[in-house]
Amino acid sequence: MKSPFFAVSILVVFPLLVATAALNAQTQPLFDSEIRGRADALLRQMTIDEKVGQLNQESGIVIKGFMDQKPDDDIREGRVGSILWLFEVKEINRLQHIAVDQSRLHIPLLVGFDVIHGYRTIFPVPLAMASSWDPAVEEQAQRVAAEDARAAGIQWTFAPMLDIARDARWGRIVEGAGEDPYLGSAMARAQVRGFQGAMWGGTSVLACAKHFAGYGAAEGGRDYDSSYIPEVLLRNLYLEPFHAAVKQGVASLMSAYMDLNDVPASGNHWLLHDVLRQEWGFQGFVVSDAIAVGNLVTHGFARDREDAAYRAITAGLNMDMASKSLVENVAKLVAQARVTQAQLDDAVRPILEAKIRLGLFEHPFVDETKVEAVLARQSSRDLERKLAGRSMVLLRNENHVLPLSRSVKKIAVIGPLADAADEMEGGWTVEGLFGGESKGHPVSLVAGIRNKLGTGAQIEVVSGAVLQRKYPSLIDQLTGKKYSPPATEAELRRWRGQAVAAAERADVVIAAMGEATNMSGEAASRASLALPGDQQETLEAVAATGKPVVLVLLSGRPLDMVWASEHVSSILEAWYPGTEGGNAVADVLFGDVNPGGKLPVSWPRTAGQEPIYYNHNLTHDPEDAPNFTSRYWDLSTRPLYPFGYGLSYSSFIFSNLRLSKNRFRLDTGTEVSVDVTNTSQTAGDEVAQIYIHQRAGSASRPVRQLKGFRRVTFKPGETQTLTFPLGFDELSFWSPQTKSWVAEPGMFDVWAGENSTAAMHAEFELTAN
Ligand code: NOJ
Repeated sequence: MKSPFFAVSILVVFPLLVATAALNAQTQPLFDSEIRGRADALLRQMTIDEKVGQLNQESGIVIKGFMDQKPDDDIREGRVGSILWLFEVKEINRLQHIAVDQSRLHIPLLVGFDVIHGYRTIFPVPLAMASSWDPAVEEQAQRVAAEDARAAGIQWTFAPMLDIARDARWGRIVEGAGEDPYLGSAMARAQVRGFQGAMWGGTSVLACAKHFAGYGAAEGGRDYDSSYIPEVLLRNLYLEPFHAAVKQGVASLMSAYMDLNDVPASGNHWLLHDVLRQEWGFQGFVVSDAIAVGNLVTHGFARDREDAAYRAITAGLNMDMASKSLVENVAKLVAQARVTQAQLDDAVRPILEAKIRLGLFEHPFVDETKVEAVLARQSSRDLERKLAGRSMVLLRNENHVLPLSRSVKKIAVIGPLADAADEMEGGWTVEGLFGGESKGHPVSLVAGIRNKLGTGAQIEVVSGAVLQRKYPSLIDQLTGKKYSPPATEAELRRWRGQAVAAAERADVVIAAMGEATNMSGEAASRASLALPGDQQETLEAVAATGKPVVLVLLSGRPLDMVWASEHVSSILEAWYPGTEGGNAVADVLFGDVNPGGKLPVSWPRTAGQEPIYYNHNLTHDPEDAPNFTSRYWDLSTRPLYPFGYGLSYSSFIFSNLRLSKNRFRLDTGTEVSVDVTNTSQTAGDEVAQIYIHQRAGSASRPVRQLKGFRRVTFKPGETQTLTFPLGFDELSFWSPQTKSWVAEPGMFDVWAGENSTAAMHAEFELTAN
């Protein structure tokens, strides 16, 4: 076996070389000597105050109590390096003119914003895109998002969000790729490629991998709460997608808000320096999450804001998002020789390099006449509709109720989300945030069904239930959006009665239920996963009519579907499908698109099972052992739907699992192959999934780990052989004993199939080299 040191070198150095070579081949090198030379030349001209200014990111919007005045003077004086939350092209140009025309060194601003899943055309939320199990979906969507954002003057997006989430109570599960590091890493790479493209072009934005790191492990699923994650879990799980993004050349990272093992991420030297820079060789820059540097004081970590600035910059943080702690204190720290000139230069240099690399010095302004033509592209909407269709997951389809016939005469569309166009797009709808209604004019479910069926069908639309939002979101608070007071019991009963009456008149019921968009996302954790408001009562009342009920879920997390999974005909998880959402759902409901998405999370039965994930270790007495089992008295420990699960209108069988070598050395590796056959008369997609388990070694290993997947379209009756490599990348793990990445000789299990419970099994042996 190779020494641990060798293993580490392979893992760290080789991928870096490969990544750099790939970048070099594809475009000019990310941080080449010309860029470095220009940045250093600039640094030599800059005063300490001007350098410190580059570390300062200010808010571009003026909201009372948040940011009270415009940053014009600060920009003119060179006290601002970047600006966020600014998305009116005219205002971007105005402030950029101040930076470029009026500041001493004419250094352009870097304009950043949360373009998470689209700018004008809003794509499915990231959890949905991960459900496609098709990295090309993420890449294509983020390419369009980048083109739109850049045309509108935004040069840097605070995405991708790479936090592994094992707990659906955590509201921000909607912003990531779910629970698995292998799938999450594939989605991370795809998003970095999509956003950054060839990076020299004027159609790219810098990506920002966030929230570094461990934010998704918040205790109790409560947003912002502390994370306690042993190093073994950080290395093998939470850091993996970030490492993948760094290897893919991500330009920046955002440090998370919370305490990580009692050291806030934004002042965590081990994380920002030892791991990120020393081990991974990251050469870009790190921005804090909003006001997170100032929050080092709130956390009881830093004594005061000066101490916070000291801790952040010496930990390896480059830019302070909106707390002003760095701009107010770093020059003082340099004067006191607590921060050296070299440390300051090291913090500033990658920010200047990014601006140079983006071409901002040559092209700082937006061509206002060209923006609308880019944002309004029909091709973006067409792509969105297609990708949304690929992102939906069919959870249940008894008696093949779906797809519905187009000749269905009477349809009742029921539920508070039936005709709610604004709820189709999910949380980050850039243009909609402060401008009120989204300029993308999203398509509601009812509108999508009407578009599909024309005047041929009678469609009755009844809300029938309420969502009963308790809190407006932060955005809603900032924008003063108000909600109507809670409905009375009598009103609820009356509305439910209307829904039941409509169901009785209909041939089929489509129930559009789930969560309002602001019930997931930031500061939107839930203690219960039940359908909010009185939706469950209405669903049960409607199902009691005996009519076939198709439940279309719009949600940012898995919800409690225990009852529905036994009583409604079909369940389609559409997540938040985006601007063309209603049309995309209708495509699936009426069979123009055959669903092929799979769950990127284990679907819990209730919140009491959380955290729940498939890649756990074995207990000495698992649930199906005879005695003293790992069990709940009142519920199975298994999820309702396993990780990787999703149905199709086609049916598939897997067969003939085999390995090219059943005994092999690491330097040769092996290949695992499986035949997949579409046994139906309908063309459709299947996602072949490969899982492994190491039987013994220096550490206990998860019962299963995803180590290969591919989404493939099959013609009716078609068989394809799919082959996946197994080598160091797939077989290695970070061992808590050796404190290094190792691939250990011994016996392994391998499974292939349609989800994480796949039964088809083989075994192989990794031998010592
Ligand atoms: C706070 C959020 O945690 C982060 O994800 C976001 O990028 C920043 N605010 C900026 O909007």
